[in-house]
Amino acid sequence: MTRGEAKKLVEQMTLEEKAGLCSGKDFWRLKSVERLGIPEVMVCDGPNGLRKQSEAEGAGINDSIEAVCFPASCAEAASFDRNCMYRAGQAMGNACQAENISLLLGPGTNIKRSPIGGRNFEYYSEDPYLSAQMAAAHIKGVQSKHVGACIKHFAANNQESRRMSISSEVDERTLREIYLAAFEDAVKEAKPWAVMCSYNRLNGIFASEHHWLLTEVLKEEWGYEGMVVTDWGAVNDRVKGLEAGLDLEMPGSGGATDQQIVEAVRAGTLPEAILDEACGRIVSRIMTYAEHRDRDAVWDREKDHELAVELAKECMVLLKNDESLLPLSDQQKIVFIGKFAEKPRIQGGGSSHVNTKHQTCALDQVKTMEHVTYVSGFDTTEAVGEDALRLERQRMNDAIAAAKQAEVAVIFAGLPDSYESEGFDRKHMRLPDIQNRLIQAVAEVQPNTVVVLHNGSPVEMPWVHDVKAILETYLGGEGVGEAVVDCLFGNTNPSGKLPETFPLKLSDNPSYLNFPGETSKVEYKEGIFVGYRYYDKKEMPVLFPFGHGLSYTTFAYSDLRVDKRKFQDEEPCTVTVTITNTGDRFGKEAVQLYVQDVESKVLRPIKELKGFEKVGLMPGESKDVSFDLGKRAWAYYDVEAHDWYTEEGEFRLLVGASSQDIRLTETVYVVPYKKKKQIYTMSTILGDLYENPDVKQEIAELKKISDSMFESANQEALGEGMADMMEAQTREMPLKSLPSFSNGVISRAYLEELLNRLNR
Ligand code: BGC
Repeated sequence: MTRGEAKKLVEQMTLEEKAGLCSGKDFWRLKSVERLGIPEVMVCDGPNGLRKQSEAEGAGINDSIEAVCFPASCAEAASFDRNCMYRAGQAMGNACQAENISLLLGPGTNIKRSPIGGRNFEYYSEDPYLSAQMAAAHIKGVQSKHVGACIKHFAANNQESRRMSISSEVDERTLREIYLAAFEDAVKEAKPWAVMCSYNRLNGIFASEHHWLLTEVLKEEWGYEGMVVTDWGAVNDRVKGLEAGLDLEMPGSGGATDQQIVEAVRAGTLPEAILDEACGRIVSRIMTYAEHRDRDAVWDREKDHELAVELAKECMVLLKNDESLLPLSDQQKIVFIGKFAEKPRIQGGGSSHVNTKHQTCALDQVKTMEHVTYVSGFDTTEAVGEDALRLERQRMNDAIAAAKQAEVAVIFAGLPDSYESEGFDRKHMRLPDIQNRLIQAVAEVQPNTVVVLHNGSPVEMPWVHDVKAILETYLGGEGVGEAVVDCLFGNTNPSGKLPETFPLKLSDNPSYLNFPGETSKVEYKEGIFVGYRYYDKKEMPVLFPFGHGLSYTTFAYSDLRVDKRKFQDEEPCTVTVTITNTGDRFGKEAVQLYVQDVESKVLRPIKELKGFEKVGLMPGESKDVSFDLGKRAWAYYDVEAHDWYTEEGEFRLLVGASSQDIRLTETVYVVPYKKKKQIYTMSTILGDLYENPDVKQEIAELKKISDSMFESANQEALGEGMADMMEAQTREMPLKSLPSFSNGVISRAYLEELLNRLNR
């Protein structure tokens, strides 16, 4: 139903009905207005499966219906594949129709500011372009089934510590280029039915009552037509929230906040039009769902399980593979070591937790392979007490003995649930000590050691040089067991890429000194230099760079070309590259395009991701991959103009297999369509005036006077070095200082008149 049609329904509602519609009936349901045919609808968590609670209220967090657990967002993002995201979303949308769920609470697209953010597993990336693209594809998939997706948590909710009260202090450019950008394209392109505002404050104001955020940016600037819903319990002042652009409060408040709205309208302190607008947005979504309700939808969990397996395979990232140890062969004597082979960690904890009965493990998949044996090696709970410690030593010794006898040892390691969840941040970036010790000990006796990791965010790897292969599965969902074994034995060729940097150690991360902040606020002092933008600029070594991921085959990049070389930023530019599979097996490559501003007056990252495409190739096959670049590929956010701006000049296009493995480059020349309006003041320095060709005429006279003035000073000066110094000083001279340095030849009145002309 359009908002226009919804408006007509809202006109027939009483004040109480309208106020009532702006908050939930209970934890998961919205209220109905039966006399007008507006039905009660239900919502549930996402984003990697349905967490539909059978009881409206009071059910425990893990007490939900049986569902299918798809790879968590951290893993999905590693697919670098919009199609994967779409298909997972589509399957979940269908399940929602079958279960009569109108809105699925996801995807979460907050930026991974720190590797120890507790909820990183539920988010996509440290890069806003990748985040927004993945979110958009997920949303389109869910909504293709006429069920709403709810993008969350808007905005700057990048930690769990004090998540419900902390103020994220972020400057405007950083917000625009990084934190809001992770939402912007997804909102504009995929039009999610709902945007969930976050718990935290943004620069001192709660997101749930942030007018600039919810109305000026989201609804007015981005043209968002859907509804804004609170994160659960994120309301501070309900009436203020409504005025700021918050439409729906979840869960309900037992009628208390509805009453506040009614009273505010009656008292004339809240214009009823604001309430009508919010209701219109909510009604339009409820009715759209009702109109397209698919009562025949069938949720085939088996089929979705197969999809979960297929998608998990797309997400595996092969971090290291020395001497092509992987794939393993049927002829080798192999030992699987580690608890995660028996019980892999497939998802994160908290509101995204899905109740699946169909979790697969690697061990089940090798049951019939006599050449593969298993020892548990470690437990995921910490050993406390003498007996437990003795058992721990025993397990370690058994693992070492088994590794010695095998030809290959595969260690299934990872972060236990207690290390990573919604609700708290990680304390450090390490695996449990027992696992690090075990990997080290096994690697000492077995040169062919492989580590398979299960974790929602980066870990330090003190043993990285001692093992030959590392396979990162992230939290791969219920199909991870099949997917891992397929990758290990080469039935699947890994094709995932890291959607984030793995730093060498936590203290290398740019947010390190300002995470998670102090009691009331956290300052984003690293600004736009998040993730690879920082490591690149600082020329810092990392453990594994953004975009990295190996394959069992090899790819050649050739023939990079652009459809134009000099153009205005508003014109689209198409970049094409040919990729060839030069190995001997089928493989997929996620080709990445970064853009670099060759010279800039403002501080910019070395390069930024502006395109990616995954392509599948048979041995010897070649395909062209194209990227369409628009204005945002070149622009930065100009805080003076409060707008995006492209600085005229050369831009380098960098195409590669990771942010550190650039294979081909091209250069284009971009001219801004809209020139930046310069405002000159008495503090403007001569150098800035001289550099602007547009004011050459206007300042010709001033330049002549000041040049002659400084030339005569020059002649009196001694030596060449002094001449350079004088020239530099001239360029640094603010207009206001000219009257005194020119001994009155240039008057203040003359300068004021000049400024008037320049700024006209
Ligand atoms: C989480 C949301 C979730 C909601 C409902 C909140 O605590 O932050 O992501 O959708 O609960 O479970």
